[in-house]
Amino acid sequence: MTNEFEDAARVETVRIKGLSGERVGGNFFEQIGGSATFKKLTDKFYEGVATDDVLRPMYPEDDLAPAAERLRMFLEQYWGGPTTYQETRGHPRLRMRHSPFKINPLARERWLLHMRAAVDSLSLPPIHQAELWGYLDRAATAMLNSFED
Ligand code: HEM
Repeated sequence: MTNEFEDAARVETVRIKGLSGERVGGNFFEQIGGSATFKKLTDKFYEGVATDDVLRPMYPEDDLAPAAERLRMFLEQYWGGPTTYQETRGHPRLRMRHSPFKINPLARERWLLHMRAAVDSLSLPPIHQAELWGYLDRAATAMLNSFED
């Protein structure tokens, strides 16, 4: 059975594997500090979104906290943490869930700009930072659905 987490893993090139393909160094979610780290990441990211003239209008709700929580739950699950995302939201189907929003190169750039600030705020060891950033950069590219201005 394939699911979106496996699809995402297929575009993963930085993830470090042992000779038999096993994850080296244990669970990434735990290695970088568990839920507290993911909460900090997504809160910081949405602080940036709140000020962004391209991204902010895309969010239907006045309160960005529920959106921050959905992103946090997704990322935690993706990196080997609790599976609360799947339990509460079902299958991620992220490209489909983003289809109502125009994600052009400018939107991707803004998304990554705020995510970069959020990742930097964690002060992770370089190897972990590179792994997290590599994934986010590729995932944001995968979400592009428009090349119009
Ligand atoms: C590339 C630019 C992107 C834009 C402009 C964008 C925008 C949005 C918007 C407007 C929403 C709806 C807000 C909500 O109600 O949750 C959303 C939801 C979400 N986004 Fe993105 N997004 C982008 C990339 C990504 C990436 C790369 C990921 C994952 C790594 C991601 C993960 C999510 C998740 C998990 C949700 C909530 C889905 C749900 O359960 O309903 N997004 N995004």
